[in-house]
Amino acid sequence: MRRLTQQQPIRAVLVIFGGTGDLTSRKLIPALHNLKAKGALPEHFAVVGVGRRDLSDEGFRESLYPTLSRAVGENLRDDAWARLKERIVYRRFDFQDEQGYKGLRELLEQMDEAYQTGGNRIYYLAVAPEHFEVIVDKLQANGLVRNRDGWGWQRVVIEKPFGRDLTSARRLNQKITAIFTEANTFRIDHYLGKEMIQNIMVLRFANPLFEAVWNNKHIDNIQISATETVGVETRAGYYEQAGALRDMLQNHLLQLLTLTGMEPPVSLATEAVRDEKVKVLRALRALTPERMAADVVRAQYDRGRIEDRRVAAYREEKGISPTSTTDTFLALKLGIDNFRWAGVPFYIRTGKRLRAKSTDIIIQFKNLPQILYAKEHGALQPDILIIRIQPKEGVYFQFNAKKPGMDPGISPVKMDFCQNCDFESNSPEAYEKLLLDVMRGDSTLFTRWDEVEYSWKFVDQIAQAWGEEEKASSLTTYAAGTWGPAAANELLARDERDWWSVEG
Ligand code: BG6
Repeated sequence: MRRLTQQQPIRAVLVIFGGTGDLTSRKLIPALHNLKAKGALPEHFAVVGVGRRDLSDEGFRESLYPTLSRAVGENLRDDAWARLKERIVYRRFDFQDEQGYKGLRELLEQMDEAYQTGGNRIYYLAVAPEHFEVIVDKLQANGLVRNRDGWGWQRVVIEKPFGRDLTSARRLNQKITAIFTEANTFRIDHYLGKEMIQNIMVLRFANPLFEAVWNNKHIDNIQISATETVGVETRAGYYEQAGALRDMLQNHLLQLLTLTGMEPPVSLATEAVRDEKVKVLRALRALTPERMAADVVRAQYDRGRIEDRRVAAYREEKGISPTSTTDTFLALKLGIDNFRWAGVPFYIRTGKRLRAKSTDIIIQFKNLPQILYAKEHGALQPDILIIRIQPKEGVYFQFNAKKPGMDPGISPVKMDFCQNCDFESNSPEAYEKLLLDVMRGDSTLFTRWDEVEYSWKFVDQIAQAWGEEEKASSLTTYAAGTWGPAAANELLARDERDWWSVEG
């Protein structure tokens, strides 16, 4: 466990490969701006953007500003940006180019002097995955990774996708860990930086009320939904290869599942938490071919309307094949084969171009024996606990109560904790938290290799079951702006259940 105390001064140069890319301008620079505005960025800190566009330092900074101001909106603080940008420089080189790395080494040595960064570097690979291996190779070959006493530390941050299946993920991992240690390898899953996702453990392990009933004796089913209104946007090349399976299930959704399903860790130390998360992945029930057909729904969006705007079908999007069989929606029924969860279905769904943007975990409790009230009132609504991850952040509990007054009726009522209403501050963006954690060397909220390994094992069995023919025949469609295909509802209807609405 490498949790560092607040008192230890952090010093580092952050080198962003993919400096002119989308992730840098939409997420990383806004996160750095917000940290600067809050006074949370260390004094001994600077940023180098590396990209292939021909830009001066000033040109690079200027290119970041429009997206920064859109991303942070009214929270833009020009003074913070002015102080941050004077510590941002740019280097143009091709990731294959040896000379480029030599120049980078000289630059970093100068920056160590200027900002007293002591040789500490964070290499952030915000690039397409085909560049990961070449960049780490060249960093090492050019003396940019030393990890020896007296030379500071060097860490690498790797964006997803970490491989496209187990074999490629293994190869990539071997390459990276031959150069960086596991402790200095940060496989980022930005969902783990979201406030309410960190709150799942607190909710479960700091409240006797919830922990006591968090098992198959009391829980009927769990629904995890991550729905989006956006389409494929400008990422056709990547998304055609990934689909919802690799884009969302392999990482974000399986991470939500592990946090919801894990046993209490022996402590909050990084490895103790990760050990418990891995056990959930190991206990995932295998999907046999028969179960695949029954329990996995894959679909692609067709034309439709999102907030009164007509939107194109996936196959009509720029860069997408008109005969594409890529899934933009996935719904699954999963089982965790351990004592806590035996018999409790976990229903998971995710998709693009759906009715609303929302990420929620819904815990539906078992009904009490319907003896006392059923005759007069009919079946009562089950109790449900909803963990709202975004856009609203909070938790609400829905339970049955007597209607007030003379009316003898019973109706569901809500106890609502709205985090973004009650704590009047804006929750930090996921990348703010995660960037600070990398600087501190705390990898609790990053995925350990075996988590990645087991999640690929699980996802591979689904991908392999979809050969070219099955890919076409297993695909259904849904109109954009709906909640997905009818088959996703049937998945639950078959078990006499429904998806709980996540709107409102
Ligand atoms: C990314 C996926 O990891 O997560 C995107 O590649 C998806 O396709 C995004 O849109 C969703 O993230 P968030 O934070 O907007 O829920």
